[in-house]
Amino acid sequence: KTYRIASIPGDGIGVEVTEQAIRVLKRLEQLLGTFTLDFHNYDWSSERYQKTGEYIPAGGLESLKNHDAIFFGAVGSPDVADHISLWGLILPIRKMLGQYVNVRPIRVLPGLSSPLKNCNTEDLDWVMIRENSEGEYAGQGGITHEKTEYAIANDIAVFTRRGIERTMRFAFETAASRPRKHLTMVTKSNAQRYGMVLWDNVFNELAPQYPEVKTDKMLVDAMTVRMVLNPPSLDTIVATNLHGDILSDLAAALAGSIGVAPSSNLNPTRRFPSMFEPIHGSAPDIAGRGVANPVGTFWCAAEMLAWLGEAKASQSLMEAVECVCAGGIKTKDVQGTANTLEVTEAVIRMLEMD
Ligand code: NAI
Ligand code: MG
Repeated sequence: KTYRIASIPGDGIGVEVTEQAIRVLKRLEQLLGTFTLDFHNYDWSSERYQKTGEYIPAGGLESLKNHDAIFFGAVGSPDVADHISLWGLILPIRKMLGQYVNVRPIRVLPGLSSPLKNCNTEDLDWVMIRENSEGEYAGQGGITHEKTEYAIANDIAVFTRRGIERTMRFAFETAASRPRKHLTMVTKSNAQRYGMVLWDNVFNELAPQYPEVKTDKMLVDAMTVRMVLNPPSLDTIVATNLHGDILSDLAAALAGSIGVAPSSNLNPTRRFPSMFEPIHGSAPDIAGRGVANPVGTFWCAAEMLAWLGEAKASQSLMEAVECVCAGGIKTKDVQGTANTLEVTEAVIRMLEMD
């Protein structure tokens, strides 16, 4: 079977880690011989924006629809304001391709350590489901009297029953598929009286339809405390766009580093392709030095294979990555001394031994 994959490396370390992940995927393809990954590279980046005034050229989003999946690095440059780069590239793709849930598995991989004491995979094994199309990142709002002392700005959080329900159903189904079958919903419905209360209500309505799933609710501030003090009490987590964004970076740090965490922007209807990207950004502070941790992007590659239906390939890749981490071939952000290439080559050697 041949899969058409759009690759968008983007900026900074996004380019470095996607290049290595594609090498790993191509080697896996050769070794297994059961599928072909046909990569199409898109040079959509901040450099391109500075030259042409746009991240995505006319017709670009349409051309992405001709693929089975999108493999994305990171976008962001010190030379372009971050709201321009985010709204220029990643947010339009998520929105226009209906990628309405963002799934972030979080585990302490073997050989890595959590900054929390005595915390390993058995204690911290979560999946975070973030609503990916509305809420605080709906893009509604504006500013008046800009650049005067009377400036007034607002970003309007938009929540719809349809948007909440489809994300929550995905979260209940994810929880039901996991051994512990536990779902925690995060809001701030004590202070935010409309959208967050709608979240509560939809959650209460859906829960009886999934009797096998145990549920509880947290306010986002208390949730940060629970994540740090009682990781084993959590399993599947569902949160709004903003809350999920923040909590998943915290979760990744608790699991070792944001350099190891993957994220899948899914269109569960499969009408349009889904997009797989590490949760980290372009990391201008380390870009160009060849030291970025590629593990998060390798994990994304495994998530992409699983979504495409290549479960065996996905599992082989993840096992190879875990063996390499367990063997101590790690980058500096996870207390190792290896560089990006050394980690990549170790993963390739591990696949070849399989
Ligand atoms: P960042 O994730 O790029 O970096 C935060 C810190 O983590 C830095 O010290 C960096 O060196 C380190 N780090 C990140 N990934 C790493 C890896 N794979 N290996 C080793 N260390 C790693 O976040 P930051 O600094 O807030 O943002 C930098 C740029 O990236 C900004 O322009 C921002 O807008 C953009 N960004 C883009 C995202 C995306 O494309 N989805 C997500 C987050 C940020
Ligand atoms: Mg983030």
